[in-house]
Amino acid sequence: MADTQKQIVTVGVTGASGAVLAQKTLSLLEQDARVERIHLVVTEAGQRLFSEELGITSGDLKQLPSRLLSRSTAKIEVLPNKDIGAAIASGSYRVDSMIVVPCSMGTLARIASGVSDDLVSRAADVILKEGRKLVLAIRDTPFNRVHLENMLRAQQAGAVIMPAIPAFYHHPQTIDDLVTQYIYRVLAQIHLPQEHMYRWTGPTSAKKAEA
Ligand SMILES: Cc1cc2nc3c(=O)[nH]c(=O)nc-3n(C[C@H](O)[C@H](O)[C@H](O)COP(=O)(O)O)c2cc1C
Repeated sequence: MADTQKQIVTVGVTGASGAVLAQKTLSLLEQDARVERIHLVVTEAGQRLFSEELGITSGDLKQLPSRLLSRSTAKIEVLPNKDIGAAIASGSYRVDSMIVVPCSMGTLARIASGVSDDLVSRAADVILKEGRKLVLAIRDTPFNRVHLENMLRAQQAGAVIMPAIPAFYHHPQTIDDLVTQYIYRVLAQIHLPQEHMYRWTGPTSAKKAEA
């Protein structure tokens, strides 16, 4: 991708716990001047998670971005998960990267085994075959052997396995602090470093000793 070219990003949302992670991802991408377009695909289970965890239901999926972000936006295009003929299902269409957030074990399995029977898994398959960046924000616990093997297969095919595991070394005070730092790390993976991301620079005790 040329330095000056703005990014086109696909965001897949599936039925794993962590709807707030998808909401934060979309919010940060939407307000990022380096991003030209966001294609959003939500599985049926993903829609259920928005409802269960955020109380957001959307009979008309096109209204989902404005309901999630509490502002209207033309930058996010919602695509039906059943539409395996959408532009993002073809490698000839330019998408720079894709994030599946949160990524269920079911979708991980479909991606790891190349079962492209919905738009989320087909778009991810295309990203891998074209050698583009795919980040899977997988979420479940504990993992069984099938999950672990699927992670390895997806990683060996080129995906970044980025479990939704928060860090604590930046001293988070709120859930939003935890979520934001994690999503900052996800966005750094697709070459969208965030100015406010906490970066570890060594132990506090060592810095105090130097001062
Ligand atoms: C409230 C709720 C929470 C769930 N949490 C998870 C989870 O954290 N991880 C996971 O892999 N599946 C989870 N599931 C199960 C998936 O939604 C289910 O396997 C679904 O078929 C995944 O479909 P999808 O990959 O097409 O979105 C959850 C389901 C519900 C209703």
